[in-house]
Amino acid sequence: MKVRKAVIPAAGLGTRMLPATKTVPKEMLPMVDKPVLQYIVEEAVEAGIEDILIVTNRAKSAMDDYFDYYPELEHRLERAGKEKELEEVKKAADLANIFYVRQKETRGLGHAIYRAKRFVGDEPFAVLLGDDIMRARNPVIGQIIAAAEKYDSSAVGVQQVPDEIVSKYGVVKPEALEDHVFAVRDMQEKPTLAEKFSNYAILGRYVLKPDIFDILEHQAPGYGGEVQLTDGLRTLSAQGKVLAVDFEGRRYDTGNLKGFLEATIDFALDHPETGEWLRRFLLEKAQTL
Ligand code: G1P
Repeated sequence: MKVRKAVIPAAGLGTRMLPATKTVPKEMLPMVDKPVLQYIVEEAVEAGIEDILIVTNRAKSAMDDYFDYYPELEHRLERAGKEKELEEVKKAADLANIFYVRQKETRGLGHAIYRAKRFVGDEPFAVLLGDDIMRARNPVIGQIIAAAEKYDSSAVGVQQVPDEIVSKYGVVKPEALEDHVFAVRDMQEKPTLAEKFSNYAILGRYVLKPDIFDILEHQAPGYGGEVQLTDGLRTLSAQGKVLAVDFEGRRYDTGNLKGFLEATIDFALDHPETGEWLRRFLLEKAQTL
């Protein structure tokens, strides 16, 4: 089994980041000097993915424009001798083969993934949620792919989260297989603290085998009245067909203000142009707080 394709669901309305996301898709908000979505596309590309489908909606055409050439701008940069900027602008358009499909109706993550059926065909594929940015030594989706390929199985990326936030996530009932890899015995979408199987939360990265589509096609709405991917995967987990990979790396939820700011600070500290300056600024600032 070889994972060559990825799907990025990016059709959410961004209601947790209003008013900024009223006219700018949340995936296009700048994270230091690149839109959030570019980090996610780059993670997939680093893991060897060649073809990427972005699931969008009618308010998100800025995303397809971003991954296209922009001749007028490129000529101007060329004439002005701005080679570095020119390279950056073109790089985004050359990252991968990017395809788009609209979700058309906001009916949940499971429904968004079902829209990828024609693009995916009969192959396993990666899923990277458009809100979740990772900072890791090895691309997180690559870690999930490695385990999925080894066991010829669907897989979800998990980490342990504290009790206070476990109800915000999909949660797995894990059974140890090897270091950092579990067989998933059951799953729940946004359980209460009393119900939770464990503190292992699904954090925005998946590898799915195409048998998920037969399930999602008939999946009844679940939590929040939406078709949940977790509910579809639950059926596969009962058949012993889902792994959980406790991945190495830090995950940021850029779909909410605090997660977005944490990611901005950490990525700016890593950035060659801003890192030293921001470190000094934060140290000075900390003394006055
Ligand atoms: C989605 C999934 C959930 C997962 C979460 C974080 O929820 O449904 O299982 O744990 O993303 O990746 P959402 O944050 O869209 O409500």
